[in-house]
Amino acid sequence: MSDQRGQDVGLRVAVLGPGGVGGLLAALLARAGAQVRCLARSETAAHLQAAGVRVESGQFGDFTTPVDAAERLTTPVDVCIIAVKATQLDAALERVPADVLGDALVVPLLNGVEHVDLLRHRYPQAGVVPATIRVESTRTGPGVIEHGSPFVTVDLVATAGLEQRVQRLADALRGAGVTTRVGDDEQAALWGKLNFLAPLALLTTAAQATAGEVREARREDLRAIVAEVAAVARAEGAPADVDQVVAFFDGVPAGMRSSMQRDAAAGRPIELDAIGGAVVRSATRHGIAVPVTARYVDELRGRYPTG
Ligand SMILES: NC(=O)c1ccc[n+]([C@@H]2O[C@H](COP(=O)([O-])OP(=O)(O)OC[C@H]3O[C@@H](n4cnc5c(N)ncnc54)[C@H](OP(=O)(O)O)[C@@H]3O)[C@@H](O)[C@H]2O)c1
Repeated sequence: MSDQRGQDVGLRVAVLGPGGVGGLLAALLARAGAQVRCLARSETAAHLQAAGVRVESGQFGDFTTPVDAAERLTTPVDVCIIAVKATQLDAALERVPADVLGDALVVPLLNGVEHVDLLRHRYPQAGVVPATIRVESTRTGPGVIEHGSPFVTVDLVATAGLEQRVQRLADALRGAGVTTRVGDDEQAALWGKLNFLAPLALLTTAAQATAGEVREARREDLRAIVAEVAAVARAEGAPADVDQVVAFFDGVPAGMRSSMQRDAAAGRPIELDAIGGAVVRSATRHGIAVPVTARYVDELRGRYPTG
């Protein structure tokens, strides 16, 4: 986008939920010249407006970037990144009125699959871009983000008619240091992540143990859940290879934990419904039996708050 003198004024990006994911992207994009507005609860917005976002990162270094912050979207943007947890989505979307958002791109980075349809329904004029992010990033205080992984990778899906605008966003992300890929297969992108994430989250949370421990102690359940999620993914039109996912699970660092497990341990609501519940619901729609996944979902629902 250019101003009246033809100068690039930067992509206008709203970030709903400036936490581990949202705060990191807000800071990186703002540092690279985008016009970033964080949408947050009142205390967090006030803090960000005054102090900016602080990032502590092995990959990007430690830096603080000023950002605009508000409780609600009141002026148009090119892109609205949604980075709240699934359990917070309904309340947070009140901050983004459909008439102000207009036909902007909406880029949800939540784990799970069902939020994409929810957003399309809620924002019929907008261009919803299914997306996933691979990163380990933690909000350690309001506007303070600890980026632990030596990478951050965003996968965007450019659906028909949105290709050019998605490319512009991809360029802005790459310019900010984010590895960004653009694909055209929505189900492959969303289920490709869930294929691994659902078994990891369910097993590590139920056992309150690391990936290394559960792949030893709960091997049968691991194979069963991977196979069940893969069957559902295939029914949804996504490729899924059970041996490949198990091999990937076997290859991750033994000490790996899931964010669901960390939320459970900290007493925060877990994203069980978006991750495990979505698999069970889709299985039911397709008439696929997922007994082990369903057993874990039921057990966790009884043990932890889910929203
Ligand atoms: N963190 C990761 O490494 C990672 C990696 C891959 C995927 N994901 C996925 O990304 C999503 C976001 O996770 P996260 O770890 O970034 O979560 P997070 O650190 O808890 O951040 C969520 C942010 O949302 C804000 N928020 C909550 N309710 C809100 C509301 N009603 N209005 C406005 N803002 C609200 C919180 O604000 P306050 O700051 O005011 O509390 C917080 O800044 C999840 O679906 C997660 O599974 C995360």
